Amino acid sequence: MQVLSEKYTEEELLKKLRKKLDERRYIHSIGVAHTAVSLMMAHGSAQRSEDKGLFELQAAYTAGLLHDCAKCLEEEERDRLCKKYRVELSPMEQEHPFLIHAKLGAVLAKEKYGVTDPQILSAIRYHTTGKAYMTLLEAIIFSADFIEPNRKMLDCLPEIRTEIYKDLPKAVYMILKQTMIHLELREQPVDEHSLEALEYYKQFA
Ligand SMILES: [Fe+2]
Ligand SMILES: [Fe+2]
Repeated sequence: MQVLSEKYTEEELLKKLRKKLDERRYIHSIGVAHTAVSLMMAHGSAQRSEDKGLFELQAAYTAGLLHDCAKCLEEEERDRLCKKYRVELSPMEQEHPFLIHAKLGAVLAKEKYGVTDPQILSAIRYHTTGKAYMTLLEAIIFSADFIEPNRKMLDCLPEIRTEIYKDLPKAVYMILKQTMIHLELREQPVDEHSLEALEYYKQFA
């Protein structure tokens, strides 16, 4: 499928990613990309408008492939890139550096991978925490990250995977809740965007 990059073809992009990600993360990214396309087929305008529909599918595929493009960087490289591109980190991100890969990933998608579509960049930016009022693409990347086929099986997964093709906002709520439970169990604080998301998506429960 065509990727929405001004620099690379799909083949070139996959080659680049393969070098930048470890094998597990690479396979996960392909899984997220395919899952995102199938969710966009179910919820987007593919059936109604051929042109818009195809663009949406390509956007879902591109965002899925690139969502973790900053995930496997060495600490030093990550800090260097944050400085170079003036990525401002919240206290929460400074304390929990694994969160940085979403923000930095959106920057690298633009600067290194030639993606200019703001919707794709935003979907990458919020894929870890989610946020209130997500666009269709944002909600799809956030959820595809959770349900893609290579994810470790959790008790809640089968139900979420079924629900998500019928009622996306409800599935987003289920995922947010699961994420909170997981973080609470590990006594980790919850990002403010996730809290706002939970508050907003509660209405779809
Ligand atoms: Fe991620
Ligand atoms: Fe991911």
